[in-house]
Amino acid sequence: MATNLKINGERLWDSLMEMAKIGATEKGGVCRLALTDLDRQARDLFVEWCREAGCSIRIDKMGNVFARRPGKDNSLAPVMTGSHIDSQPTGGRFDGVYGVLCGLEVIRSLNDMKYETLRPIEAAIWTNEEGSRFAPAMVASGVFAGVFDLDYGLGRADQDGKTMGEELKRIGYYGDDEVGGRPVHAFFEAHIEQGPILEAEKKTIGIVQGAQGQRWFEVVMTGQEAHAGPTPMKVRKDALVGAAHVVGAINKIGLENQPFACATVGMINSSPNSRNVIPGKVFFTIDLRHPDDKILSKMAAEAKAACDEAVAKNHLEMDFKEIWYSPPVKFDESCVAAVKKGAEELGLSNLNIISGAGHDSCYMNRVAPTAMVFIPCEGGISHNEIENATKEDCRDGCDVLLRAMVERANAA
Ligand code: HGY
Ligand code: MN
Ligand code: MN
Repeated sequence: MATNLKINGERLWDSLMEMAKIGATEKGGVCRLALTDLDRQARDLFVEWCREAGCSIRIDKMGNVFARRPGKDNSLAPVMTGSHIDSQPTGGRFDGVYGVLCGLEVIRSLNDMKYETLRPIEAAIWTNEEGSRFAPAMVASGVFAGVFDLDYGLGRADQDGKTMGEELKRIGYYGDDEVGGRPVHAFFEAHIEQGPILEAEKKTIGIVQGAQGQRWFEVVMTGQEAHAGPTPMKVRKDALVGAAHVVGAINKIGLENQPFACATVGMINSSPNSRNVIPGKVFFTIDLRHPDDKILSKMAAEAKAACDEAVAKNHLEMDFKEIWYSPPVKFDESCVAAVKKGAEELGLSNLNIISGAGHDSCYMNRVAPTAMVFIPCEGGISHNEIENATKEDCRDGCDVLLRAMVERANAA
C-alpha cells in the first residue's frame, strides 16, 4: 500500500469553486435544483472533467452518472465513490458536490501518481439526492439499490407536475443503462458533516458509523374558505389554525424525544393565501428523524395523533400520507475501518459519528459494503447559502477517501 498517496488540495478546491459558479446565489451559496438546466450544466462540467481524466462515462435510466477509471483487472467489480450535485433552493457550495468532486480528484491524483489499482474505480453522481424538487430524497440511489422500482423513480413529480422521467429526457440525462443490478465491491462517500459536532470537538475527520432513520409525511388539511370579516370565530373551519397546531406539536415531539430526535415542518402552502380569506386548505410536510427505529415509530404515532387532534378541534378534513421511510443505517465495519486507518495513517484527528442527514450511502449500503468520510463545516451550518468548509479540511477528507478506496480497490 503506497503510503505517500496524496491528492492535490489546490486542484480540488479550484474544482469546487468552479462548480459553485453554476447556480451561484448572491449570499455565496447555490440554487441548483435537481434536473434543472443548472443541474445539467453541472453534470456536463463533471463529465467533461472526467473525460479529460481519461474516464469512460455511463449514464443509467435514473440519470445516475458513472465515470470509470480502468484497473489492472476490469472483470472485477469496481470500488465506487460519489454523492450528489443537486442542491437545496438555498443550498451551499459543499453539500453533495464535495463528495462528487472528491471522486474526480481521487481519479486525477491516481493518474498523476501513475498508480494502477487492481479494480476499476468509479466516481458517481446520484440524481436528486436532496428530495427538494422531487420527493423523496435519495430516490435515484434508492432505485439503484432496489429500494424503489424504476417506474416509481421516473414518476416522481415536482409541485408543477413535471416528472423526473420527463425532466431527465429534457436535460439529456435519461441514460441507456439499467439502474443497478450490477456488483459494486465497495462504496465510499465524502461529505461535510452538516452539523456542529466535529467543529465543536476540534476533529478533522468524522468516521461515520451509520445514519439516523427518517420518516417523511405530507398532510393536507381542508376547512372552508370564508370572509375574514363577517365570519364569527366559533363557526370557522380554518385550515391554517389546524396546521399551526401541528407545527407546534411537531416541534414538541422533537424536544420530548431527546437526545437525538429531530422534527421539522419545512414546507407549508396555505390557500388561497389572501389576507382577508379564512384559509380553506393547507399543505405541509413533516420530517421526523431518530437513530432508534422504535423511537422514530413512536414519534410518527405522536405526529399522527397531533394531526387528528387539530382536525377534531377545528372541524377539518385531512389527508395524511407517509411518503418515505428510510430506516436507521449501520455502515460496513471493514469499510469504516478503512476510513479510520486512512485518517490515522495521515495523523488526522478523528471522531466516530452518526450522520444526522440522509445520504446516497444509506441506500448503497444495501448493495455494497459502504462507509462515509465527514469533514467539519463552519458553525455546523448546511442547507444554507453561508455553508462553508476550509480548503485544508476538504483536502484532508479527500486524502482519507483516496486511501480507503485504494485499500479496497487493491483487494482481490
Ligand atoms: O434530508 C437529508 O438528510 C438530505 O439532505 N437529503
Ligand atoms: Mn448531501
Ligand atoms: Mn442536503
